[in-house]
Amino acid sequence: MEKMTAQQYMDRESKYGAHNYHPLPVVLEKGEGVFVWDIEGKKYFDFLSAYSAVNQGHCHPKIVNAMIEQAKKLTLTSRAFYNSSLGEFEEYITKYFGYDKVLPMNTGAEADETALKLCRKWGYMKKGIPTNEAKIICCNENFHGRTISIISMSTDPDAYEGFGPYTPGFVKVPYNDLEALENELKDPNVAGFIVEPIQGEAGVFVPDSGYLKKASDLCKKYNVLFIADEVQTGIARTGKLLACDHEGVRPDIVILGKAISGGVFPVSCVLADDDVMLCIKPGEHGSTYGGNPIAAKVAMAALDVIKNEKLAENAERLGEIFRQELSSIVSDMIELVRGKGLLNAVVIKPKGDKTAWDVCVVMKENGVLAKPTHGHIIRFAPPLTITENELREAMEKIKKTFKQFE
Ligand SMILES: Cc1ncc(COP(=O)(O)O)c(C=O)c1O
Repeated sequence: MEKMTAQQYMDRESKYGAHNYHPLPVVLEKGEGVFVWDIEGKKYFDFLSAYSAVNQGHCHPKIVNAMIEQAKKLTLTSRAFYNSSLGEFEEYITKYFGYDKVLPMNTGAEADETALKLCRKWGYMKKGIPTNEAKIICCNENFHGRTISIISMSTDPDAYEGFGPYTPGFVKVPYNDLEALENELKDPNVAGFIVEPIQGEAGVFVPDSGYLKKASDLCKKYNVLFIADEVQTGIARTGKLLACDHEGVRPDIVILGKAISGGVFPVSCVLADDDVMLCIKPGEHGSTYGGNPIAAKVAMAALDVIKNEKLAENAERLGEIFRQELSSIVSDMIELVRGKGLLNAVVIKPKGDKTAWDVCVVMKENGVLAKPTHGHIIRFAPPLTITENELREAMEKIKKTFKQFE
């Protein structure tokens, strides 16, 4: 059979796939560590890491082997029966993060939904909120996924417009605004506050230092659950295991996804202590694939890699270097550099008709893959296994890219 061109691959996706994404024009077929290769064999640094899912690097052999070994034995039992891997994972992850219990799901959005349900249930059972009156506070510019209830929290018209009617019971406050938060927390029907420790999809918006700690203290004061959506920021991405660890905050509910499996398999989960988690009883929530044996083994291997390879420490150290280097680029297209650990972004000032999209296309030609978010922000989030030499090599390509726009 004749070899297909990149254009043919892209045309086929466009013809037969829904148009709910607008990918950069590159067709990938192989990945290893911090690199991916396109169908013509051209090698790129991956500076997106599948939106921070591939923190452990592409096709990490330990994680892939865990999947293969389990796939040969037992893949899915559903939760109608016990399986010999789930309990091992539950013990492993609760000890790893220091919580009483875990509830496994598959995708980030499902874990967010789980946290919202758990929070409402706790509100009725423990806080005594009248039936169907519970409210959950969320932040403007949040991103928690794509379900109807989750987009009911969104302030981004692309995410919510045309998908109503929306789920009631959400109250929106500006991010990084403690006064607005406290005003809403005074309402006795508020059960929870859901927040991203750094707003990733919004463009890597880092709140003021102390915001998370004070927000968590306020939640305690008003008997409201502090729910951290660490789907993107968690698992070492920002230089600590959880982004909340930077401020010594212990959320009542932690939501994890993405890198919990190193990009090998869809795994997500919610962590909480018994007082919260045991509010959900058999038959009240679940998922056919949630907690399947492959997911259990893959997640344990992926979390092992994070600790064994000291990826949080690497993200912290190389993140500093990366921001320093990015900030040193002289370009009238760079408005601002921000981030934490290896979750960083550059805010782009368009030049004539050249936008962040054009920068990403030229950067791709130069061998670095990244993607704009919200039109004018480029997120840089390489696998956390990247070495200093690799980082500096990629930085030369990024610098060269901005030079080409002079
Ligand atoms: C903070 C946050 N929560 C939830 C999600 C949704 O995860 P998923 O795409 O796996 O449903 C994302 C995805 O980008 C995210 O960044």
